[in-house]
Amino acid sequence: MTSHEAGAAPPGSPGTAALIEAIPLALIDTPLDYILADHFRQRTVCVALKRFAAEGTVVRSEADMVIAFLDHDLPLHHEDEDEDLFPAVRRRALPEDDLGSVLARLSEDHRLSDVMVHAIVDVLGSGPDNDRVTLDRPARDIMLAYANSEHRHLAMENGIVMAIARIRLKPSDLKAISEAMKRRRGVDA
Ligand SMILES: [Fe+2]
Ligand SMILES: [Fe+2]
Repeated sequence: MTSHEAGAAPPGSPGTAALIEAIPLALIDTPLDYILADHFRQRTVCVALKRFAAEGTVVRSEADMVIAFLDHDLPLHHEDEDEDLFPAVRRRALPEDDLGSVLARLSEDHRLSDVMVHAIVDVLGSGPDNDRVTLDRPARDIMLAYANSEHRHLAMENGIVMAIARIRLKPSDLKAISEAMKRRRGVDA
């Protein structure tokens, strides 16, 4: 990872670069674009988890890449949303946007998905010196369940929250979100 990129993908890492791309940190200056790019990466991870579940085995390099994303990038993204994006959207939304229950549901999804994420990280981290991780049926099922619930979550965020954020948030809101995201990642403003 260079100082200009964030994320789980060290460029050039053998066998891993194509799985999860790093996001240029400069994109945080337009925070909604950064969050959308993170959603794209989450979809990529879900597609990979479905493939792992179908094949029943994961090469070590891909397992490590997904662990790094789920352990590091995903919690940062949840904090971006729960602490900055959602409160800003909640403040600026109009009553007819009817967003209260949607935002509460999405934050609850973050909390509930932690259990599945930890289970997936544990499975993928087993036998760290082996070339491959072999997945038993329960591990495959939890990967599928997480991927399916995350696809629904992303559809709600992109289709509802991000669409309303684009319309309602002011430049000052976006600047505050961007600054908080930089602080969270230890990036100079
Ligand atoms: Fe999100
Ligand atoms: Fe989310």
